[in-house]
Amino acid sequence: MDKDIIDKVRVSYGKCLQDPHFIDKFYDRFLASSPEIKPRFSNTDYAKQKQILGHAINMLVMFPKGNRIAVNVLERVRETHSSSQLNIRPELYQLWKRCLMETVRECDPTAATEILLAWDAILQLGIDFIVRGYKKKYQSAY
Ligand code: HEM
Repeated sequence: MDKDIIDKVRVSYGKCLQDPHFIDKFYDRFLASSPEIKPRFSNTDYAKQKQILGHAINMLVMFPKGNRIAVNVLERVRETHSSSQLNIRPELYQLWKRCLMETVRECDPTAATEILLAWDAILQLGIDFIVRGYKKKYQSAY
C-alpha cells in the first residue's frame, strides 16, 4: 500500500482524535448497531475498553506498513477473537468497520473520498488478517 495514503489516513485519524468524544461516539454507535453486539460487552469495563480501542485503531493504521508492534497486537487480537475464544464471526467486522467509517465521516468532515476509501482499505487489511485466524489454530493462521 502507498505510504502517502497511509500517512493521509494517520492525519485524518489525528483530526478525529481532536474530538475528545471520537472513541465514545464510535463505541456507542457500534453497541447500538445490532442486537448482537451489546450483550457481548455485558461484563466489559467500558472506560478500559475505550482506551484499548483508541490504541487498536492506531495499530490497524500502522499495520499495512508492517510495523512490528502493530503486527504483534493484531496477532493477539486474532487469537482472542477467534472461534475458540471470543468467537467473533467474520461478518461482525463489517459492522465494526461501517461504524468506524461513519464516525470518521462525522469527526473529520473534511476527509475527501480518496481518504475515506483509503481508510476503508486499511481497516480491511487488518480485518482480513484477524479473520484469517477465526477457524485456524493461531500458529497456523498465516
Ligand atoms: C478490527 C476490529 C477489532 C479490533 C482491532 C479489536 C480489538 C480488540 C482488543 C485489542 C481487545 C482487547 C483484548 C485483546 O487484546 O484481544 C478487544 C476485546 C474485545 N472485542 Fe474486539 N476488536 C475488533 C472487533 C471486534 C468485533 C467485531 C467484536 C464483536 C462484538 C469485538 C468484540 C470484542 C469483545 C467482546 C472483547 C472483550 C471485551 C472485554 O474485555 O470484556 N471486537 N478487541
